Amino acid sequence: MSKKIYLYGNWKMNNTYSETEKFFAEFEGAYAPYKNDANLEVGIFAPFTSLWPLSQGAQKCGIVYGAQNVYYEPKGAFTGEISIPMLQEYKVTHIILGHSERRHIFLESDEVIAKKTKAVLDAGMIPVFCYGETLEERESGNTFSVMERQLKSVLNGLTSAEVEKIIYAYEPVWAIGTGKTATPDQAEEVCGWSRKLIGDDKVVILYGGSVKGSNAKELLSMKDIDGALVGGASLKPASFLEIYAAYKG
Ligand code: 13P
Repeated sequence: MSKKIYLYGNWKMNNTYSETEKFFAEFEGAYAPYKNDANLEVGIFAPFTSLWPLSQGAQKCGIVYGAQNVYYEPKGAFTGEISIPMLQEYKVTHIILGHSERRHIFLESDEVIAKKTKAVLDAGMIPVFCYGETLEERESGNTFSVMERQLKSVLNGLTSAEVEKIIYAYEPVWAIGTGKTATPDQAEEVCGWSRKLIGDDKVVILYGGSVKGSNAKELLSMKDIDGALVGGASLKPASFLEIYAAYKG
């Protein structure tokens, strides 16, 4: 039996409320041929302001959906933040945490990301935990030590059931939005290494960084890569679904 593929789209700061409605008007038909494919799980992660049309469209199509960040406190004086209970009213089940843009542009620390991850797990939701090295870290031979720090900081203190619930996304920072993809061997090396470090063969590990139709087959065919976290190519239904079509084709 072929493996299950996770095709997750991270829209980042793209797609307004009305653009999200337009996306789903088109996505519904484009997704119809894949809807009953038990080996495919599609998910979309939209900005907070697009969560309502996302929730409506995603529930209609039967796909997973989620947010791109959350704060770990349930409520209070945290200007500009969004809490887990706020997301639960939209029936959000999955939340991206630790994305490199949060780490590098908004200076989120390993410690904050770990607290967010724990809060999301405690709420019975699924964290999509992102990690990965910068070009400088790779070139200075620090890829694995950086990722070990990022992974261990989040795994520390979790039960094995919690560790298994997290979806991991290896996203080398130098491959995000740059058009430069990690080679399938580079991505596989890190995903295989991560699985060993996490110490659980069953965990889901995605690769992210310039994934598109033209490179999907090679990447998604690798043994330790369970799917893709897609940025740019997820913004249009055709370029998003083309990734799975290319893998299958
Ligand atoms: P791109 O696919 O645009 O490189 O973005 C990857 C990413 O950061 C997904 O979270």
